[in-house]
Amino acid sequence: MKEKVHSKFVSLFGEGGVFYAAAGRINLIGEHTDYNGGYVFPGAIDKGILAEIKPNGTDKVRLFAIDRDEYVEFELAEDNLPSQHWPRYIFGVCRETIKRGGKVQGFDAVFAGDVPLGAGLSSSAALESCFAYAINDMNANGLDLFELARIGQSTEHNYCGVKCGIMDQFASCFGKAGHLIRLNCKTLEYQYFPFDPKGYKVVLLDTCVKHLLADSAYNKRRESCERAAAEIKKNHPEVDFLSDCKRVWLDEVRGKISEEDFIRAEYVIGEVQRVLDVCDALERGDYETVGEMMYQTHFGLSRLYEVSCPELDFLAKLARKMEVTGSRVMGGGFGGCTINLVKDELYDGFIAAAKEQFREKFGHDLKVYDVVISDGARKL
Ligand code: GLA
Repeated sequence: MKEKVHSKFVSLFGEGGVFYAAAGRINLIGEHTDYNGGYVFPGAIDKGILAEIKPNGTDKVRLFAIDRDEYVEFELAEDNLPSQHWPRYIFGVCRETIKRGGKVQGFDAVFAGDVPLGAGLSSSAALESCFAYAINDMNANGLDLFELARIGQSTEHNYCGVKCGIMDQFASCFGKAGHLIRLNCKTLEYQYFPFDPKGYKVVLLDTCVKHLLADSAYNKRRESCERAAAEIKKNHPEVDFLSDCKRVWLDEVRGKISEEDFIRAEYVIGEVQRVLDVCDALERGDYETVGEMMYQTHFGLSRLYEVSCPELDFLAKLARKMEVTGSRVMGGGFGGCTINLVKDELYDGFIAAAKEQFREKFGHDLKVYDVVISDGARKL
């Protein structure tokens, strides 16, 4: 990938620049908890974005995306929002850096990636984090890693229309090889947990479906949670997020919020606790409990939060039938991957059965990604 990026860079822009990289992510547990002030438990993966970048002495940004074979340029002022989707991630990062007092000189960049798109592995966060990191470094802006993650998140909010939480950009910036990171999304305290489940493999099964309107459905989930938290706050003023709520406090507002908002909140309150339970289980080396929690999360995401789909439900059900330790939809949902915790001895049989039965049922192939937990954003 590096060679390809470099030869394109030289052919378009002349003398080479500096390489930067940032990763996609997995999340073991803690889904749709980040924007509710709860815990998440992600790690960066060995698939990401690689960019070669060089300041060009103008106030223009010139970009070439290898995977799309497309060239785009824009100027840095706010009213130059690119019309295509992908350059908006980089435009947004430039603008959000400027809003935070950072300097952004024009630059040339060529980039490529190997994070599968639409698979729920945060290809967009990898792109944002890579450029946020690079721009900060090239301009010696001195913003810390949290600020760089927030730059990516605000890019999604203000330039891409997704009211996401901080998890993806956080994982992409803070990732560390061999470790998952438990983040409290309210206080931003975090802790690295070594993750090397001996005797088990973590594997992603990509349904290769991505449902339309996923972004607006995502934003609607967030609004449901905010309405539920606001109603609970009337009784318990200390509540800012659903993560502050006891389960019984939710019961007190049943009937005052819609049934839909109620079941969304019910899922979130359960999920916040499950992250803590999984971390405890991991410290004891109790992978069976970790797996059981993953199934519970899947149930909640499918039946209460309603962000699953038939393809994902099929894979989680098959995993259960084949005695896989844990399986669930990962990321925002509405398509993408399941994450599976599988005993070594069951791995080959499970993958073969999943491939065959999935193709039979849905008429197309799934994809299999073995997970390697890797480093986050960096200069190469
Ligand atoms: C997407 C968002 C994250 C998070 C997950 C669900 O990946 O970008 O902020 O909300 O969905 O856990």
